[in-house]
Amino acid sequence: MCCPRMLSVLAGVFLLALACAAAACAADANYDESKVPAYTLPDPLVLSDGQRVADAATWRSRRRGEILRLFEQHVYGAAPGRPAAMTFDVRSATADALGGKATRKEVSVRFTGAEDGPAMDILIYLPNAAEKPSPIFLGLNFAGNHTIHSDPGITLSDRWMRDNPNYNVADHRATEQSRGKARGRWPVEMILDRGYGLATVYYGDIDPDFDDGFQNGVHPAFYKQGQTRPEPDQWGSIAAWAWGLSRAMDYLETDVDVDHRHVAVMGHSRLGKTALWAGARDERFALTISNDSGCGGAALSRRRFGETVGRINTSFPHWFCGNFKRYNNREDELPVDQHMLLALIAPRPVYVASAEEDRWADPRGEFLAAKGADPVYRLLGTDGLPAKDMPKIERPAVGTIGYHVRRGKHDVTDYDWQRYLDFADRHFK
Ligand code: GCU
Repeated sequence: MCCPRMLSVLAGVFLLALACAAAACAADANYDESKVPAYTLPDPLVLSDGQRVADAATWRSRRRGEILRLFEQHVYGAAPGRPAAMTFDVRSATADALGGKATRKEVSVRFTGAEDGPAMDILIYLPNAAEKPSPIFLGLNFAGNHTIHSDPGITLSDRWMRDNPNYNVADHRATEQSRGKARGRWPVEMILDRGYGLATVYYGDIDPDFDDGFQNGVHPAFYKQGQTRPEPDQWGSIAAWAWGLSRAMDYLETDVDVDHRHVAVMGHSRLGKTALWAGARDERFALTISNDSGCGGAALSRRRFGETVGRINTSFPHWFCGNFKRYNNREDELPVDQHMLLALIAPRPVYVASAEEDRWADPRGEFLAAKGADPVYRLLGTDGLPAKDMPKIERPAVGTIGYHVRRGKHDVTDYDWQRYLDFADRHFK
């Protein structure tokens, strides 16, 4: 028999479970540092045949390629190259956007050249007050280009997106009321005032973020005859989004107003994982920024703190390649860990940012991965990460690797952007 008291307890438990699912806080997630298991990280400076990597030339000619292939095979999946038939269509260019502060461009990239094939739209702002060509930040956005600023000149996306009342997205479509909803994460004027441009793309243009067995998005355009889904070592959604960033770079290389030797690729959360993989694969990105990227991004998988490999593969089976599922609850068998992802970016600058309350993303694991990449950065003649221990809150440690943990929750804030702009100044100017 169920008494009213028991019913209310049951209802409480049910609501808690719902709240937990919404906040993606697995009841079994570990948040206790003393329960982090003992682990040994694979050494980025030992070749697969056991030899030590003692010089920069061996890193370049042998070890970097080995690690890149391990991440392709076991974590993100291999992506195709640049499609030969891809086209760029500059749909608009306006020199008096944002009250004269910026030049705004919108560019459609047709991946296969076909009008009705997969395509993405790049929104670009360039600072009118600064000299051209401008260095630029490039990042994917979560809910459409029209959300990053209330500028009515931005084309409203008509793509599929996740329903979200906070963004006024209903029936999987954006509305006029969606404009500017993500502007807190994209301080466009601040970026322009510091002399940088900003380029952004809605990530759902490249692959809508739900598990449909890879029938929509860019994947089908690259299937071989008779293929219906990627092989276990071929690209999942994160690899596709990262591939899209490289295609945006292909365009930026052609834009005379953009300093394509100074493109910083930046992303938050799942798009931070994506920015890291893009920066690791594509050496045209001069600087890479990971904002709260967590599991499968900057955080060490072997720590199993907050989100784990098993958990991420269950909640988001389409993000990584098929082979990555082998490592659910078997993190120690992974031939890589995420410090090696950061090492792939060396000697180019990389910045890893965490938020104190974002324990799901494991701030300490993000710091330790940055630390774990440091020997590679030093072998390549840079100053690596100048921090022995985890820096205090809002006391960034900045060398060629940068790291901070700020106050607050999982988000992108002005504090984060100020650090990224300082980091870009330090390395670009
Ligand atoms: C979930 C997911 C994280 C991811 C985040 C996000 O919380 O578990 O891995 O980083 O969503 O992209 O916002």
